[in-house]
Amino acid sequence: MIIAHISDTHLALDSPGAERRIGDFASTIADINALDPPADVIVHTGDIVHNGRRDEYAQAVALLAKARAPVYVLPGNKDDRANLRAAFSGAGYFTAGCDFIDYAVEDYPVRLIALDTLSPGNGGGDFRREQAEHLKELINAEPGKPIAVFTHHPPFEVTVGPDRFHFATMDSMERLRDALQQCARIIAVFSGHVHRAASGLVGRIPARVVPCVATTLRKGEYPSPMKTRPVYHVHRYDPAWGFATESRVVSIDASAARERRTASTPAASLADV
Ligand SMILES: [Fe+2]
Repeated sequence: MIIAHISDTHLALDSPGAERRIGDFASTIADINALDPPADVIVHTGDIVHNGRRDEYAQAVALLAKARAPVYVLPGNKDDRANLRAAFSGAGYFTAGCDFIDYAVEDYPVRLIALDTLSPGNGGGDFRREQAEHLKELINAEPGKPIAVFTHHPPFEVTVGPDRFHFATMDSMERLRDALQQCARIIAVFSGHVHRAASGLVGRIPARVVPCVATTLRKGEYPSPMKTRPVYHVHRYDPAWGFATESRVVSIDASAARERRTASTPAASLADV
């Protein structure tokens, strides 16, 4: 099983960097489409758009429609839960009657569980008590398969960059960590939000953060030729070894079309995370 994991595309229409954000997103999907062997599934771990606007989601839906593999999304702190839900509900995988965008995907050797850590008006994540109860139900709905959990905010201490914790309160992060550690079948946690690669643990569970797709917002040092090429993660599952994660730099072919369209590179700021 091969999961293409993308995050933090931050589509922002009517802004100086709009074309570049679209290009980063489009070239990433083109690169995933060219993977050989192909990805079985694509997961976007949030901050799909920058301002939560419906027209931004319409653009995201159009870009993701070009993906050959099925796509699953969850919200980040820059997303608007209602507008995201409206834009993507046609795919039918959101849990009916659930306030949060927490759901399970059953179609693969590894179950995928997406958890919604969006706290409206707050850049930090949240995980409420009712979500912990719902997570138990999602886990118990299938007794045998391993599980990979996806969140926007990483539920572990991130030791690179200026911010070590990415939840609004330590209580909410601990609630999520406790809930995850109740199930021995959870074998991986994959997140976004930090805009740079990071790894850690949730108890014994390995956890990883994928860099952002939006190249103007990416944190960390990259060689000059890579600065206009998005990065995403490919998680390959082996029943004997679990997940092996590869950082994939979008190919020059996939990014060439984007570079022809890109006029300028706005500076990033921490406020954009
Ligand atoms: Fe972000």
